[in-house]
Amino acid sequence: MKKITIAIDGFSSTGKSTLAKQLAKELEYVYVDTGAMYRAVAYFAMQNEFITIDSFNKNALIEALPKIQLEFKFNTDLGFAEMYLNGENVEKQIRTIEVSNFVSAVAAVSEVRSKLVEQQQEMGKNKGIVMDGRDIGTVVFPNAELKIFMTASAETRAQRRFDELQQKGDNVTYEEVLKNVVDRDHMDTHREDSPLVIADDAIEIDNSYLNKEEQFAAVLELINDVVKTT
Ligand code: DC
Repeated sequence: MKKITIAIDGFSSTGKSTLAKQLAKELEYVYVDTGAMYRAVAYFAMQNEFITIDSFNKNALIEALPKIQLEFKFNTDLGFAEMYLNGENVEKQIRTIEVSNFVSAVAAVSEVRSKLVEQQQEMGKNKGIVMDGRDIGTVVFPNAELKIFMTASAETRAQRRFDELQQKGDNVTYEEVLKNVVDRDHMDTHREDSPLVIADDAIEIDNSYLNKEEQFAAVLELINDVVKTT
């Protein structure tokens, strides 16, 4: 079957990565979670104290960018790739609420974006890829054959993220998670460089009331249609 590029964009905690992982497994495509890359850069900035609760030394981060090496390594037990920062597996560290609170500020830095976008374009140059993020259909792969834009209410998304964090033993309140979701939506949609917008040719899916199976089946049908006509 002909390989295509699938771009999945949308607000935080809309289940983009769950859908993208399911699709990649079914189609035997490569899956790339670009949020993990921005999270890893934010984690690096935190570790080096370039970003703290009350300060953000953007120039120090920009200067240090050549020292940041990001790599995905496939974990056969888990069935998906994990994020490595300068050789260290940082999957756990990048999913904390602290990183979530800083990541949108880091992702607004143009120099960070151009470094990561270049790497993402390189990863997708042979097609057969499902990539999720905020600017995949608009900036990274504007010619992707299929673009999906996922939404759900802020409350639905906060509840999902809260349940996930609780399962991991993270001591966080629902209110904190909701605030993080709303703040990130605002920053991601209002930043100057590559704000989160729906690509003109994207198909919007509001999954507030769709379960994972229904959503997966609907998107697979879209893929089949696209593959037939390209
Ligand atoms: O998908 P996520 O919640 O793990 O993404 C973390 C943050 O990274 C999100 O708040 C915005 C940013 N991001 C981005 O700006 N562009 C992308 N392609 C992916 C993520």
